[in-house]
Order: sequence, then C-alpha cells, then structure tokens
Amino acid sequence: MNIPVSPGADESAMPCGSLSHPRAAWIAAEIPLVLDCIHDEAVHLALWQLARPASLDWLDALDLDEIDDLQETFPVVDLTVSIPAALRDAGYPDDGRAATLAEEISTQARLFARIMQSDAVRIRLEIVETDACRKFHMDNVRARMIIPLTEPGTEWIEVACGQDASVRRLRAGDVGLFKGRIWAEEPAILHRSPPIAGTGISRLLLVLDLPFPALPSPMPPETF
Ligand SMILES: [Fe+2]
Repeated sequence: MNIPVSPGADESAMPCGSLSHPRAAWIAAEIPLVLDCIHDEAVHLALWQLARPASLDWLDALDLDEIDDLQETFPVVDLTVSIPAALRDAGYPDDGRAATLAEEISTQARLFARIMQSDAVRIRLEIVETDACRKFHMDNVRARMIIPLTEPGTEWIEVACGQDASVRRLRAGDVGLFKGRIWAEEPAILHRSPPIAGTGISRLLLVLDLPFPALPSPMPPETF
C-alpha cells in the first residue's frame, strides 16, 4: 500500500507500506485509504485528516439542549433510511441540514463497516458536556472510530514518547480509528476527552463501534 502522507502530517507518521521499521504507532493522511492501515500490527491509530465540510458548519450554532443523544445499532444496508429517521427522532432539524449530517454519518459508518468487515455498526451521536473520560485510556473494544463533529475534539498521546508526549487533538471532521484493548496487546496510543467541564462548552461527538456481543462483557465499553 502506498499512501502519500499529507504535508501537514507529522514526519513520524509513515505510510503503512513503509512500516517495516515504524517510527510511530500512528499514521495520518488526507485520504480515507489511510484508515485501512489500522490492520497493520504497528498502527494503533489511523487518522484521516478530513476537515469538516462547510455544509455542516450549522452544527456549531445548533442548540444542543434541544437534541437527544442517538445510540443504536444499524444494519449497513439500512443506513440510507434509518439514519435520517433517527436524526429526526433525536430532534435534529427536519430539513436539508439534517440530510447532510445523515450523509456524513452514513458514509463514515459504511467505511468503518468495510474496514472492520461487519454488516452492522453501533452508532452513537452524543452531546458531551463534561470531561467524561478525562484520563488517558484505551477503550475496551476491538476498534473504535471517533469523529468530533464540533470542537474541541478528542485528545490523544503516543505512549512511547513518555512524559514528554505531545497531547494532540482531533479537529472537527477528523476521522480517528483507534485500536482498543481487545485488539492491541500493548497500549501504544491513549486518548481522553478534552477538559471542558465548567466552561459551558458542549461537544457533538460521533462514535462508531462494532455491534456488542449478546453476552455481557466483564468490562463495559468506555464511552469516549
Ligand atoms: Fe475512550
């Protein structure tokens, strides 16, 4: 696989085709193909640097107090119909604005499902008003796609950098595919919610997971 890394990407982020001697546990590029690099053993975060489209700028002005969280598992084949309906039920404006949001969610859900070889996706579209998972951690999942739809976005660090690790932050629109504890034997990338408690800031966050197994997990999946 030969993926051009964007000029804005950190030099330590190598295309996964060049990862025979990886210098980083993450890779970032401005094309969606970079997300497939999550299947490389060395990659624990694959980041598609995707600026949020201008057609979703209305989200910054949306009154999130009027919106309910959305949390449901959808078959991939039903996304075109089920996502717009779910957004209407959650209180999003029933007009062309919601259609653009539904298209964005459906597109990313299909991408996640293809990469993870699943025919269904658990979708959470949540309004976050607290620090939630404020400590750096890994999630108790195989892999999780995190997409901040408004800023500030999820923060992450590279474990190998130790206490000098730079705290990086996803931008609105960025698509971060993180390995979780079930997939990664050793933690290499940790993430946390940005500190917003007491600031009055609300975040709109899209999280995509594989459907949870029927049997209860001994460790409930973390949220953010
Ligand atoms: Fe998390």
